Amino acid sequence: MKAKDLITIKDLSISDIEEIFALTAKLKSEGRISKDEPLKGKTLGFIFQKPSLRTKVSFAVAMAQLGGAAIYLAPEEVKLGEREEIKDVARTLSRYLDGIVARTFKHGDIIELAEYSTVPVINGLSDFSHPCQALADIFTVKEKKGKVKGVKIAFVGDGNNVCNSLLMASARVGADISVAVPKGYEPDKEVIKIALDFAGVTGSKVVICTDPEKAVSGADVVYTDVWTSMGQEKEKAKRLKAFKGFQINEKLCSKANKDFIIMHCLPAHRGEEITDECMESPHSIVFDQA
Ligand code: NVA
Repeated sequence: MKAKDLITIKDLSISDIEEIFALTAKLKSEGRISKDEPLKGKTLGFIFQKPSLRTKVSFAVAMAQLGGAAIYLAPEEVKLGEREEIKDVARTLSRYLDGIVARTFKHGDIIELAEYSTVPVINGLSDFSHPCQALADIFTVKEKKGKVKGVKIAFVGDGNNVCNSLLMASARVGADISVAVPKGYEPDKEVIKIALDFAGVTGSKVVICTDPEKAVSGADVVYTDVWTSMGQEKEKAKRLKAFKGFQINEKLCSKANKDFIIMHCLPAHRGEEITDECMESPHSIVFDQA
């Protein structure tokens, strides 16, 4: 892996995250168009195996605003690993592009892409992690709460890619994180270990449980994600049953702190992991988060 790849949150030190947040705050304060065009002449390529709204648009807009260009390669155009081997795609694209954002089904495919490409590879979501989402989430918590240390984040739902990244990122920056998932849907074991290691350094409290009320009790942030992620569609009926009782609704949110915020990486399935009332409530900051 190259120094500038971003494959999981584990790759980032606390100072890397601080640097990214300082730059993010600076760019946000400067407005939409960067006069210095720091990415002039640079081209970012997207290799996506799954649909995308926020990831695709945010990267493309960022490239435009920073003076660079973006090329989107749809799933059917590349057919990564099918029409052409990943290592061949990686070496070909490295000769044209300055960076690659990849969204794949298998996390291992992003690792292989990074291994063979000579330009930085950014994970734009895999079945294992979604690091850019977690960075944007923690940045948003900081903006809304004025700090991250000691802020309690409750994640209720599936211990999926978004949960894995949020868990590592929260512990890395010193936020407390309580995850409530049904039995059998826990976050990745290795991720829990990493989060606990980070917590040992930052003092973050990490709790993994099966009780949504326990997780949300005293929380400043109530976070959820879909119960059926992209690629798991065949499990939908089974998952709807397993996740009963893990919905973000007004009753559950009544356990949170008075000025709590509701977060969701989107897309949301209203009536499943979150009610319409919670999505539209004044506590919901999901669109600022996006
Ligand atoms: N867990 C969801 C996140 C979408 C941004 C999925 O992988 O489909």
